[in-house]
Amino acid sequence: MDYSPKTFTLPVLNGISATSVEEHLGLYAGYVKNFNAMSALLPEYAKDSEKNAHALSELIRRRSFEFDGMRLHELYFEQLEEGNKPLTAGGPLSAAFEKEYMKVEHVVPYLTAIGMMRGPGWAMMYWDPEGKQFLAGFSGEQHQGHFVTLPIILALDVWEHAYLLDYGASGKQKYIEAFFDNLNWSVCERRFASAQQ
Ligand SMILES: [Fe+2]
Repeated sequence: MDYSPKTFTLPVLNGISATSVEEHLGLYAGYVKNFNAMSALLPEYAKDSEKNAHALSELIRRRSFEFDGMRLHELYFEQLEEGNKPLTAGGPLSAAFEKEYMKVEHVVPYLTAIGMMRGPGWAMMYWDPEGKQFLAGFSGEQHQGHFVTLPIILALDVWEHAYLLDYGASGKQKYIEAFFDNLNWSVCERRFASAQQ
């Protein structure tokens, strides 16, 4: 089946321009389109997978890249809907952060430092229901370095396309600050609640 780009109701963001958001949403729609187009080709290739081995391997590799780009951007934009909402003090997510990181105030600088790592990618906070702990990580581009099967609580896009227009090539830190200024923590809290087992 084909996927359709989701629509997001985004408020005016602080420090992230409407033009940047519009271009970013267009890029997201491109991932959806490419994933669909590649998926449509695969059944034909699979009819003679030996003969089509090279084309098949290229498509298979690229398709997961497109899929991850699609899903991660959905997580990303969802977090910006309804505008900034603070983390609920004393709530389950806040309490879990405190248990693991001593203070809630350590979490944003930690994710910022991960986001400042070199190269395009995503800074992310996962929750491992089995270990009952957070795993913070960096996915190079968007298909490498994942903690597979773990639910993603927070996804921060740190590709250049996320900040180049507003802040230039050296403006990643400012963009990350803007992201946290606009973050709707209640979305992360919902994800954390549904990740409990
Ligand atoms: Fe992006």
